[in-house]
Amino acid sequence: MNLFHTSRRLLLTVVFAVVAAGASAQTQTQTPPTAKPFEPQSGQPGKDVVWVPTPQPLVDKMLDLANVTPQDYVIDLGSGDGRTVITAAKRGATAQGIEYNPDMVALSQKNAAAQGVAAKATFAKADLFETDFSKATVVTMFLLPSINMQLRPKILNMKPGTRIVSNAFDMEDWQPDETGTTPNCTQWCKAMLWIVPAKAAGTWKLPQGDLTLTQSFQMLSGTLGSTPIVNGKLRGDQVTFEANYQPRADEFDALKAAAAAAARIVDAIGTARQIKITARTAPARVSAPLRLVPHAPESALELRPTA
Ligand SMILES: C[S@@+](CC[C@H](N)C(=O)[O-])C[C@H]1O[C@@H](n2cnc3c(N)ncnc32)[C@H](O)[C@@H]1O
Repeated sequence: MNLFHTSRRLLLTVVFAVVAAGASAQTQTQTPPTAKPFEPQSGQPGKDVVWVPTPQPLVDKMLDLANVTPQDYVIDLGSGDGRTVITAAKRGATAQGIEYNPDMVALSQKNAAAQGVAAKATFAKADLFETDFSKATVVTMFLLPSINMQLRPKILNMKPGTRIVSNAFDMEDWQPDETGTTPNCTQWCKAMLWIVPAKAAGTWKLPQGDLTLTQSFQMLSGTLGSTPIVNGKLRGDQVTFEANYQPRADEFDALKAAAAAAARIVDAIGTARQIKITARTAPARVSAPLRLVPHAPESALELRPTA
């Protein structure tokens, strides 16, 4: 009995050992299945928005609208397969993608390397809501209207002049400065550009009197002295508006001299005295002399807030 049990246990042990050895041999001879390379699927889930790629012609249009140059630092919020970042890097810009999906980050890095721009096009695996993107001079996005609105306060606090471009989705009552569309396009055809406006509301001292501005995003209304201004607008820190202005006697000669080079000014001085003023907002500590620059949009008139 004992012997039977002992020999049965022995037999079972041997059988198990043989089976185990066979299994181990099988494991050793079997080639491990090769990992399939990650392939993104349009519409695949993302943290806050699914992945759908921007068509390349619209990527190009977005970067054209933002006038991306090698001096720019471009950040794509939710960078997908990296196409916008890579295209910006090919234009010489330093570009970074913020992407939550690690597979998409790895794919973007591979794509950037394959296209020879890995040094200029980098990607971070991060949540766009927890990322400081304030150093960007250009922000690109293809997100959702609700996400654009969540980001809007942060964007409006960026450096004046920062360009923001969005595929398809707007910023509600902050109207775009420019829009662009791609020809022969059926889906994802429209891009919008916003230029972060300086904070210009308040009263500014001009030799012509107090300039009082009310601001709604890039749109300005207000008065110069007691005269209402018209067509008031900010483009970054550039302020333009028109106002009827009666030059003082001591300014008249200077205006006439300037007018010699600009026939339109002769008319303006001679008739309605409507003068277009182009100005640049400047930090309060800058106290460059204020100078009227008649009808020369590229010229700057420095403004400083009343103390
Ligand atoms: C509509 S796709 C746009 C991709 C790319 N920008 C383009 O235009 O081709 C949005 C991307 O945002 C990513 N995403 C979603 N929520 C995110 C979050 N909270 N932080 C970072 N990326 C996010 C998604 O994984 C997806 O790749």
